Amino acid sequence: MKGKNLVSITDFSKDEYLRILNIAADFEKNPNQKLLNDHVVASLFFEPSTRTRLSFETAANRLGARVVGFSDSGSTSVKKGESLKDTIIMVSGYADIIVMRHPREGAARWASEVSSVPVINAGDGANQHPSQCLLDMYSILQTQGTLDNLNIAFIGDLKYGRTVHSLVQAMCNFNATFHLVSPEQLKLPSSSKMHIKNNKLEYHQYTELADIMPIADIVYMTRIQQERFSDPLEYEKVKNSYVLTKSMLEGCKPNMKILHPLPRINEISEDVDETPQAFYFKQAENGVYVRQALLAAIAGVK
Ligand code: CP
Repeated sequence: MKGKNLVSITDFSKDEYLRILNIAADFEKNPNQKLLNDHVVASLFFEPSTRTRLSFETAANRLGARVVGFSDSGSTSVKKGESLKDTIIMVSGYADIIVMRHPREGAARWASEVSSVPVINAGDGANQHPSQCLLDMYSILQTQGTLDNLNIAFIGDLKYGRTVHSLVQAMCNFNATFHLVSPEQLKLPSSSKMHIKNNKLEYHQYTELADIMPIADIVYMTRIQQERFSDPLEYEKVKNSYVLTKSMLEGCKPNMKILHPLPRINEISEDVDETPQAFYFKQAENGVYVRQALLAAIAGVK
């Protein structure tokens, strides 16, 4: 994996996913391994983030790397009109790995094509979020003991949810059955459904959350992505579509766990947080170990 970009989750093979998850398990046991003392990681966030930026930066720090970058492109020369191409060419002269989030779909691919160092996509618009996908897989493996043959339910904004797009593609390697719960306007894009079909797997579509509760091994809740709506009235129509409450967990499978990439708005009621099914905060913690594994593998030290 040394020197590879991670722009789309399909840039890595099934063997590479499993290798990252194995390395992450090692970092979870022993997080402070100073393997990147001679590395600089650039953390370029053109769009807001809490978990992805802070967990990548924590991962880099735990590995002994130095971090440069920005969390607000308004304080950079982008504000003066500098292009993404020029920004990336220049930063790739400063750093050994670039982690980049950008609101435009395809921006990470474009960056990887002009960068002289590896680029990790930390989310590009509604397209992909591959490092989140790897930590989601790690969390699924941790809670289920396997990635194979699972019933995975995705709930909420399946149209704009980039974490959903990446995880659907990845779990097609593990014989998953997909249960897709969304409002009519926010269904999974046809390209993702084609990916499922091309792998000869099944998906089922629903509009009611209650329908999937007895069958799901993983309930993957998502936020309605307000920032992707061009018409605020359309957001108003769907913003409260699904709210998972504690009482809805009765009758779920004993192994069922709830994941959410976070942030949540109101789609998981706080009374769920103390239930044994809630795994989303541990899932966010797992982001550090998985991102340590990713940085170490791409740097070629693991
Ligand atoms: N899961 C996730 O991408 O969260 P942030 O937007 O806070 O990085």
